[in-house]
Amino acid sequence: MAKREHFGSGAAAVMAMAGSAIGLGNIWRFPYMVGQNGGAAFIIIYLLAAFLLSLPILLCESIIGRSTHAGTFGAMEQLAPGTRWKWLGLMTVISPLIILSFYSVVGGWSIEYLIKASGSGFGEDVSSLFGEFIIKPWAPLLCHTLFLLLTVAVVSAGVKSGIERFNRISLPVLFVLIVVIMVYSLTLPGSAAGVRYLLEPDFSKITPSVVASAMGQSFFSLSLGVGTILTYSSYMKKEENLFTSGLGTAAFDLLFALLAGFAIMPAVFATGVEPGAGPGLIFETLPYIFSHMSAASPWLSRTVSVLFFLTIVIAALTSSISMCEVGVAYLVEERGMSRRKASLLVFAATWTLGAFCSLSFGPLSGVKLLGNTIFDFCDRLTSDYLMTFGSLLFVLFVGWKMKRETVRDEFTGGGTLRANGRAFGFVYFLIRYVAPLVILTIFVTNLVA
Ligand code: PHE
Repeated sequence: MAKREHFGSGAAAVMAMAGSAIGLGNIWRFPYMVGQNGGAAFIIIYLLAAFLLSLPILLCESIIGRSTHAGTFGAMEQLAPGTRWKWLGLMTVISPLIILSFYSVVGGWSIEYLIKASGSGFGEDVSSLFGEFIIKPWAPLLCHTLFLLLTVAVVSAGVKSGIERFNRISLPVLFVLIVVIMVYSLTLPGSAAGVRYLLEPDFSKITPSVVASAMGQSFFSLSLGVGTILTYSSYMKKEENLFTSGLGTAAFDLLFALLAGFAIMPAVFATGVEPGAGPGLIFETLPYIFSHMSAASPWLSRTVSVLFFLTIVIAALTSSISMCEVGVAYLVEERGMSRRKASLLVFAATWTLGAFCSLSFGPLSGVKLLGNTIFDFCDRLTSDYLMTFGSLLFVLFVGWKMKRETVRDEFTGGGTLRANGRAFGFVYFLIRYVAPLVILTIFVTNLVA
């Protein structure tokens, strides 16, 4: 088998992991969640969730990946050969591929909107645009195909010349784009209400269910529990510092989510529409805003709308690439396939499931799985169950199955990283006791709710 590739540097690894983390979750859910759930008060809760709960989980995945230099399945085989842990390895090969299937449908919609924004614009009557588009069978399928092809093309080019290179360019571009959009948005008359919406602290809104949803959002946003961070970390060299890489990833993810909030909400309030979340925010509210601003300054609003949908397409691609890589790494390392063949196989599988997800808005809308459309079923299965379950098993594995010495060694670079050595006791305590209990609570809540 060809020699296993590595990311060129620690910074390259952080960029790839941050690219995985920064995605639709940061843009279409975080800003609304903040505004609805207590503004600055929610941000404080989210910060605690991200750094005290999600970061330890992320570190667990990193420790497993880097200590074995293998993908999810191979890592379990190495660390716990012949045990049932291999099912965790297998589950985390499959879950990111399910996410990729429906995520690329949404990625496809963003491509369609990018094309629209750069072409004829959204026109005056935007209210029915989205609803009419997604029920069509062919156009969304075509966009889904295009998005998936772009994803697979990057992955099949390899870890260094595909994934690393793409993220190294994309991440700075994403930050520049979102800052440009934010500056524009903040200068619109009436935008201050959007800033107040995001920042005015209201501690009375912080209920147990808000705390639980902050945690859920932070899992999704940091791509946890589905082996993407594990796989990317397995491409990190031994001398890289896992702790600072994890901190960097979490910090970039949070920063981007906040910038997205300040890019979107001021414009929403300046136009006087109701803020929302999910596909409606990106594909209905924002085109409405762009088409209303076009009266004042057509050129500027057109440019901003193109930049905005470009941001979404790139952000979605850096995430989908990480999901795709988990499956490809498995096929290459465990099934002996070439990277190209493995990429094609992942393409075929996710294209097929994604096609069903796409059609579930139109011709297949009547098909229900446990009361959900195919798209919603895949979304809920992964976000509510597989991600939390995967995270739980990863922390249990590192906290209770792996030897403390191995974990410590990996975390402290064999004892050379002094600061990590001092933090280890606390981080290990979070991994062993706090994280499993909290994740279990979230998991049960999701089951019962
Ligand atoms: N973190 C990505 C987002 O915020 C989604 C994602 C989930 C990526 C799981 C990879 C794995 O959109």
